[in-house]
Amino acid sequence: PTFTADLSAYEMYMNPADRDAYLTLVNATHSLPADYVPPTLTDLVNTRQDGRATQKMELYAAKALEALFLEASAQGQLTVNPASGYGLSVMSAYRSYAYQDTLFRRYTQQEMAKNPALSQAQAEAITLTYSNRPGTSEHQLGLCVDMHDLSGADVSFQNSKSYPWLRENAWKFGFILRYPEDKVEQTSVSFEPWHYRYVGRYHAKRIFDAQLCLEEYIASFSANS
Ligand code: DAL
Ligand code: ZN
Repeated sequence: PTFTADLSAYEMYMNPADRDAYLTLVNATHSLPADYVPPTLTDLVNTRQDGRATQKMELYAAKALEALFLEASAQGQLTVNPASGYGLSVMSAYRSYAYQDTLFRRYTQQEMAKNPALSQAQAEAITLTYSNRPGTSEHQLGLCVDMHDLSGADVSFQNSKSYPWLRENAWKFGFILRYPEDKVEQTSVSFEPWHYRYVGRYHAKRIFDAQLCLEEYIASFSANS
Protein backbone atom coordinates (compact mmCIF):
# COMPACT_ATOMS: atom_id res chain seq x y z
CA PRO A 1 0.00 0.00 0.00
CA THR A 2 0.97 3.65 -0.40
CA PHE A 3 0.49 6.26 2.30
CA THR A 4 0.16 10.04 2.44
CA ALA A 5 2.23 10.20 5.64
CA ASP A 6 5.84 8.98 5.77
CA LEU A 7 5.36 5.70 7.60
CA SER A 8 8.65 4.04 6.61
CA ALA A 9 9.75 3.76 10.25
CA TYR A 10 6.52 1.87 10.99
CA GLU A 11 6.67 -0.66 8.17
CA MET A 12 8.32 -3.33 10.36
CA TYR A 13 5.41 -3.10 12.80
CA MET A 14 2.56 -2.99 10.29
CA ASN A 15 4.03 -5.96 8.42
CA PRO A 16 5.89 -8.03 11.03
CA ALA A 17 8.70 -10.36 9.94
CA ASP A 18 7.29 -12.95 12.32
CA ARG A 19 4.20 -13.22 10.16
CA ASP A 20 2.16 -15.73 12.15
CA ALA A 21 2.96 -14.43 15.65
CA TYR A 22 -0.26 -12.42 16.08
CA LEU A 23 -3.01 -14.86 15.13
CA THR A 24 -3.98 -16.07 18.60
CA LEU A 25 -7.73 -16.65 18.71
CA VAL A 26 -9.47 -15.65 21.92
CA ASN A 27 -13.22 -16.08 22.23
CA ALA A 28 -15.82 -17.87 24.35
CA THR A 29 -14.30 -21.27 23.47
CA HIS A 30 -10.61 -20.24 23.34
CA SER A 31 -9.66 -18.69 26.65
CA LEU A 32 -6.56 -17.18 28.19
CA PRO A 33 -5.22 -18.12 31.63
CA ALA A 34 -6.26 -15.62 34.32
CA ASP A 35 -2.60 -14.73 34.91
CA TYR A 36 -1.77 -14.04 31.23
CA VAL A 37 -0.30 -10.56 30.83
CA PRO A 38 1.11 -9.50 27.43
CA PRO A 39 4.90 -9.11 27.60
CA THR A 40 5.49 -5.83 25.76
CA LEU A 41 2.63 -3.48 26.70
CA THR A 42 3.27 -0.06 25.18
CA ASP A 43 1.47 3.27 25.71
CA LEU A 44 -0.96 4.38 23.00
CA VAL A 45 -0.38 8.01 22.08
CA ASN A 46 -3.88 8.30 20.63
CA THR A 47 -5.75 7.53 23.86
CA ARG A 48 -8.75 9.88 24.23
CA GLN A 49 -7.75 12.86 26.34
CA ASP A 50 -10.70 12.81 28.73
CA GLY A 51 -8.96 11.85 31.93
CA ARG A 52 -8.84 8.10 31.28
CA ALA A 53 -5.62 6.17 31.83
CA THR A 54 -3.29 5.95 28.84
CA GLN A 55 -4.31 2.75 27.08
CA LYS A 56 -1.76 0.11 26.11
CA MET A 57 -1.22 -2.59 23.51
CA GLU A 58 1.55 -5.01 22.64
CA LEU A 59 4.52 -3.22 21.03
CA TYR A 60 3.87 -4.18 17.37
CA ALA A 61 0.16 -3.47 17.62
CA ALA A 62 0.79 -0.16 19.41
CA LYS A 63 3.24 1.04 16.75
CA ALA A 64 1.01 -0.12 13.90
CA LEU A 65 -1.90 1.77 15.48
CA GLU A 66 0.27 4.87 15.78
CA ALA A 67 0.89 4.58 12.03
CA LEU A 68 -2.84 4.25 11.38
CA PHE A 69 -3.49 7.47 13.29
CA LEU A 70 -0.66 9.31 11.50
CA GLU A 71 -2.18 8.33 8.16
CA ALA A 72 -5.72 9.13 9.30
CA SER A 73 -4.48 12.56 10.34
CA ALA A 74 -2.67 13.11 7.04
CA GLN A 75 -5.92 12.26 5.24
CA GLY A 76 -8.03 14.60 7.39
CA GLN A 77 -9.84 11.81 9.22
CA LEU A 78 -9.30 13.00 12.78
CA THR A 79 -11.66 15.96 12.75
CA VAL A 80 -13.76 16.54 15.86
CA ASN A 81 -17.27 15.10 15.89
CA PRO A 82 -19.35 18.07 17.17
CA ALA A 83 -21.79 15.68 18.87
CA SER A 84 -19.10 14.35 21.23
CA GLY A 85 -16.36 16.99 21.07
CA TYR A 86 -13.84 14.27 20.16
CA GLY A 87 -12.26 12.98 17.02
CA LEU A 88 -11.39 9.33 16.39
CA SER A 89 -9.49 8.21 19.50
CA VAL A 90 -8.71 5.15 21.59
CA MET A 91 -11.20 4.31 24.34
CA SER A 92 -9.95 0.90 25.48
CA ALA A 93 -7.22 -1.53 24.50
CA TYR A 94 -5.44 -3.97 26.86
CA ARG A 95 -7.67 -5.01 29.74
CA SER A 96 -6.52 -7.23 32.57
CA TYR A 97 -8.45 -10.36 33.54
CA ALA A 98 -9.52 -8.60 36.75
CA TYR A 99 -10.79 -5.53 34.89
CA GLN A 100 -12.74 -7.64 32.38
CA ASP A 101 -14.26 -9.44 35.37
CA THR A 102 -15.37 -6.09 36.82
CA LEU A 103 -16.82 -5.02 33.46
CA PHE A 104 -18.73 -8.27 32.90
CA ARG A 105 -20.26 -8.11 36.39
CA ARG A 106 -21.15 -4.43 35.99
CA TYR A 107 -22.87 -5.01 32.62
CA THR A 108 -24.80 -7.98 34.01
CA GLN A 109 -25.99 -5.91 36.98
CA GLN A 110 -27.07 -3.17 34.58
CA GLU A 111 -29.10 -5.69 32.57
CA MET A 112 -30.82 -6.89 35.76
CA ALA A 113 -31.52 -3.30 36.84
CA LYS A 114 -33.06 -2.59 33.42
CA ASN A 115 -35.20 -5.72 33.63
CA PRO A 116 -35.64 -7.04 37.19
CA ALA A 117 -37.54 -10.08 35.89
CA LEU A 118 -34.29 -11.54 34.49
CA SER A 119 -32.46 -14.30 36.31
CA GLN A 120 -28.68 -14.02 36.70
CA ALA A 121 -28.21 -16.55 33.88
CA GLN A 122 -30.60 -14.69 31.57
CA ALA A 123 -28.86 -11.39 32.29
CA GLU A 124 -25.45 -12.97 31.60
CA ALA A 125 -26.72 -14.33 28.29
CA ILE A 126 -27.61 -10.78 27.23
CA THR A 127 -24.28 -9.43 28.46
CA LEU A 128 -22.50 -12.10 26.42
CA THR A 129 -23.81 -10.60 23.16
CA TYR A 130 -21.58 -7.54 23.72
CA SER A 131 -19.05 -8.38 26.43
CA ASN A 132 -16.96 -11.44 27.04
CA ARG A 133 -16.33 -13.21 30.32
CA PRO A 134 -12.89 -12.68 31.87
CA GLY A 135 -10.33 -14.91 30.17
CA THR A 136 -12.33 -14.98 26.93
CA SER A 137 -11.92 -11.34 25.91
CA GLU A 138 -9.21 -10.65 23.36
CA HIS A 139 -8.69 -7.33 25.13
CA GLN A 140 -6.56 -9.38 27.56
CA LEU A 141 -4.24 -10.25 24.63
CA GLY A 142 -3.19 -6.62 24.15
CA LEU A 143 -3.78 -6.93 20.39
CA CYS A 144 -7.12 -5.17 20.00
CA VAL A 145 -8.46 -1.68 20.38
CA ASP A 146 -11.80 0.08 20.73
CA MET A 147 -11.72 3.44 18.92
CA HIS A 148 -14.39 5.85 17.75
CA ASP A 149 -15.43 9.52 17.81
CA LEU A 150 -18.61 9.18 19.92
CA SER A 151 -19.15 9.80 23.64
CA GLY A 152 -19.54 6.06 24.17
CA ALA A 153 -19.35 2.98 21.94
CA ASP A 154 -22.45 2.64 19.80
CA VAL A 155 -23.29 0.97 16.48
CA SER A 156 -24.11 4.44 15.13
CA PHE A 157 -20.32 4.80 14.76
CA GLN A 158 -20.86 3.07 11.42
CA ASN A 159 -22.35 6.41 10.26
CA SER A 160 -19.33 8.44 11.38
CA LYS A 161 -16.95 9.78 8.77
CA SER A 162 -14.02 7.72 10.02
CA TYR A 163 -15.81 4.33 9.98
CA PRO A 164 -15.76 3.75 6.20
CA TRP A 165 -12.14 4.92 6.22
CA LEU A 166 -11.23 2.40 8.93
CA ARG A 167 -13.19 -0.38 7.23
CA GLU A 168 -11.35 0.24 3.96
CA ASN A 169 -7.86 0.97 5.28
CA ALA A 170 -7.33 -0.89 8.57
CA TRP A 171 -5.69 -3.91 6.85
CA LYS A 172 -2.86 -1.71 5.52
CA PHE A 173 -1.73 -1.20 9.12
CA GLY A 174 -2.31 -4.84 10.07
CA PHE A 175 -5.77 -4.54 11.62
CA ILE A 176 -9.10 -6.24 10.96
CA LEU A 177 -12.64 -5.37 11.95
CA ARG A 178 -13.07 -8.13 14.52
CA TYR A 179 -16.88 -8.33 14.88
CA PRO A 180 -18.44 -7.59 11.47
CA GLU A 181 -22.16 -7.13 11.05
CA ASP A 182 -22.53 -10.23 8.86
CA LYS A 183 -20.46 -12.56 11.09
CA VAL A 184 -22.47 -12.47 14.32
CA GLU A 185 -23.23 -16.18 13.99
CA GLN A 186 -19.54 -17.08 13.74
CA THR A 187 -18.20 -14.67 16.39
CA SER A 188 -21.17 -14.82 18.80
CA VAL A 189 -20.59 -11.10 19.35
CA SER A 190 -22.81 -8.37 17.92
CA PHE A 191 -21.52 -5.85 15.36
CA GLU A 192 -18.79 -3.66 16.87
CA PRO A 193 -17.69 -1.06 14.29
CA TRP A 194 -15.21 0.31 16.88
CA HIS A 195 -13.27 -2.88 17.71
CA TYR A 196 -10.14 -3.67 15.64
CA ARG A 197 -7.71 -6.54 16.05
CA TYR A 198 -4.04 -6.53 15.08
CA VAL A 199 -2.90 -9.60 13.11
CA GLY A 200 -0.23 -7.99 10.88
CA ARG A 201 -0.72 -6.86 7.29
CA TYR A 202 -0.17 -10.22 5.55
CA HIS A 203 -3.09 -11.85 7.32
CA ALA A 204 -5.17 -8.68 7.61
CA LYS A 205 -5.18 -8.29 3.82
CA ARG A 206 -6.19 -11.90 3.26
CA ILE A 207 -8.96 -11.67 5.86
CA PHE A 208 -10.20 -8.37 4.38
CA ASP A 209 -10.10 -9.58 0.76
CA ALA A 210 -11.89 -12.84 1.56
CA GLN A 211 -14.38 -11.08 3.89
CA LEU A 212 -13.80 -13.53 6.69
CA CYS A 213 -13.89 -13.14 10.45
CA LEU A 214 -10.97 -14.38 12.53
CA GLU A 215 -12.77 -17.59 13.53
CA GLU A 216 -13.27 -18.54 9.87
CA TYR A 217 -9.77 -17.54 8.86
CA ILE A 218 -8.02 -19.47 11.63
CA ALA A 219 -10.10 -22.53 10.76
CA SER A 220 -9.03 -22.37 7.08
CA PHE A 221 -5.46 -21.53 8.03
CA SER A 222 -5.23 -24.57 10.31
CA ALA A 223 -6.82 -26.79 7.66
CA ASN A 224 -4.24 -25.75 5.03
CA SER A 225 -1.06 -25.87 7.09
N1 DAL B 1 -16.55 -6.29 23.74
C1 DAL B 1 -15.76 -7.46 23.43
C2 DAL B 1 -16.58 -8.49 22.76
C3 DAL B 1 -15.13 -8.04 24.67
O1 DAL B 1 -15.65 -7.86 25.77
O2 DAL B 1 -14.15 -8.73 24.50
ZN1 ZN C 1 -13.37 -4.15 22.11
